[in-house]
Amino acid sequence: MPTFSLYIVTDTHYFANCLGASGPAYERRSRTDQKCVAETGAIIDAGFQKLLDDEETQVILFPGDLVYRAEKQSHLEFIEKLRRLKAAGKRLYVLTARHDYCNDGNHPCGFVGEEEVPAEGTRRDELRELYADFGFDGALSEHRETLSYAARLTDGVRVLMLNCDGDSKDFKGFTDDQMAWARAQIEDARQNGDYIFAVTHYPLLPGCPIFKLLDDAHLTDWETRADELADLGIDLIFTGHMHMQSLTARTSAGGNTITDVCTGSFVGCPCAYRKVTFSPGQAHIESFTIEDFDWDKQGKTAEEYFIWRFDRMITDILDAMADDFAFFTRLFGGPEKNKKLKLPVTAAGKLLKRLKLRTVGRLFFFRVDPSIADRLLRDVCVEFVRNVFVGNEPYVPGTPMYRAVDTLCRRLSPVLRPLGKKLGQKDPVFSDLRAFLLSLIGDEKQLDYEATLPVGVWKETLGGDTP
Ligand SMILES: [Fe+2]
Ligand SMILES: [Fe+2]
Repeated sequence: MPTFSLYIVTDTHYFANCLGASGPAYERRSRTDQKCVAETGAIIDAGFQKLLDDEETQVILFPGDLVYRAEKQSHLEFIEKLRRLKAAGKRLYVLTARHDYCNDGNHPCGFVGEEEVPAEGTRRDELRELYADFGFDGALSEHRETLSYAARLTDGVRVLMLNCDGDSKDFKGFTDDQMAWARAQIEDARQNGDYIFAVTHYPLLPGCPIFKLLDDAHLTDWETRADELADLGIDLIFTGHMHMQSLTARTSAGGNTITDVCTGSFVGCPCAYRKVTFSPGQAHIESFTIEDFDWDKQGKTAEEYFIWRFDRMITDILDAMADDFAFFTRLFGGPEKNKKLKLPVTAAGKLLKRLKLRTVGRLFFFRVDPSIADRLLRDVCVEFVRNVFVGNEPYVPGTPMYRAVDTLCRRLSPVLRPLGKKLGQKDPVFSDLRAFLLSLIGDEKQLDYEATLPVGVWKETLGGDTP
């Protein structure tokens, strides 16, 4: 029975430290980033060594955001790392994404002392040439305008690498011309009895209901494109960008299901990558995280270090509510514009910093299980956010945390119910806010790391028939 495996490594965001990666300017930047920056080289080296150790798996797919912020030097050094994988026999297929070239949101620089020093950037039209050896040159077909291509990975299996840069501004997605080209690739695969799946950078399906509301969390016209791809016979798409581990399915009106497997960033908590093993009729997905890397981690394990980096971004904001109103309001108009909010925000921030779950329970007349009663509300809120990105959210029915949140929501129902009614008009998922909040903290399916999905089967097994 033929099997075939590959790795998915996304959002490597490599940063060339020679541009400057220390001092106050660097600290300011890195504190507001949940992913590592100066550490990326060390993390990528450790992760790539794991890929090299697996001698059975030669194919590695990269769904984009290869470098930090379009620095030319970062690309050049990252490509050296890719060449080392290639020299060891790996076959690499790269997509580029919006962090890989200069655009409105992406200004390459190094960090030297107090200064952000501009660095040479990369134009979008330079990317194909830079990454020619990593998918583009050996492609079965290319859609050059969008930096998309289709490739044969092994006998009977093809991949459709769909770039979704769109207009590099508000529109993230596929052009009609690109879709027509993709359709032709899918039909060609089918005529040849090959199985074909897709890769793109932005999630095709929001990985969590609340991300439906965030434009940057999915392709702009995701519902239309998801149904189109599903009806064309694409049942599996690998994505990145959100730096989260999630597995989400959608079935079109025509009854065809597509599953979006979004992989977390290689360099941001939990620093994940996936291995996918195809066998006739199924794809088995496993996930791994970077277990260690060569860096002064201040006595922490790699896992603790990644969690510390992630949490710092959120705790800084929550702590600023209590201690630094100017920092807290910097993203929405500054302290002067928001001065009326200063007292209530500071009071809420102070409360959040001291309040334990036990006290929250007392305030709302219920008993919190002793195993979690001493936890600070602030830390629990931060963990809830982190868990959405890490995936396999653990607080399912039967856990003390689920019971506490459930009881709190029931006590707050005079507020939550009318609010849910209002928000539910926008999207029915919010009409029952209690159920919605509970779905955020506990994922009963637990498929974000490991899953076996039924997928199309290829020629050898069905004698030319494809479903
Ligand atoms: Fe991205
Ligand atoms: Fe990214």
